[in-house]
Amino acid sequence: MVTAAKGGETHNDRVPTVLVIHGPNLNLLGTREPEIYGRTTLEDINRQLSELGLELGIKVESFQSNGEGALVDSIQRGRGNVDLVVINPAAYTHTSIAIRDALIAIEVPVIEVHLSNVYKREPFRHHSTIADIVDARLMGFGAEGYLLALRAAARMIETQREKHRGTKEAR
Ligand code: DQA
Repeated sequence: MVTAAKGGETHNDRVPTVLVIHGPNLNLLGTREPEIYGRTTLEDINRQLSELGLELGIKVESFQSNGEGALVDSIQRGRGNVDLVVINPAAYTHTSIAIRDALIAIEVPVIEVHLSNVYKREPFRHHSTIADIVDARLMGFGAEGYLLALRAAARMIETQREKHRGTKEAR
């Protein structure tokens, strides 16, 4: 069965699934500009997300790529298979129309995450191609931001499922 999508018609009872996508250079977290991005590695972040997911009853699928096309492919694979996307498109945040279009096409809520507060940095980082199409944005919390996003995701999915149950009962 397919799950409730933003505007979708169907819903299922599968374990709520969150797709977490990490963009270019985030594989170097821990050693890359630690004064900006911290010392937590991507492996640590993904492990912490899985552990928190277990606690919250959420299945977490993580994906990292340095390539724009691979990121678009991973979003497309999530279509009909995940309930929400958490994404840090990294440098593609500032340039990618393809990632924006894929996030619109997946038709589930999206949370945009950045480790740093991009507004405290160079002006070219102030523009996000996805800011106006995502449901929520979180930045400046470092690695903790992903965990905050997952907690918010759990609430968003629960609210969506409750709404859907309500709609079904009213029929
Ligand atoms: C980033 C901010 C981007 O400007 C930068 O290109 C990144 C990481 C962040 O998480 O703070 O690679 O998305």
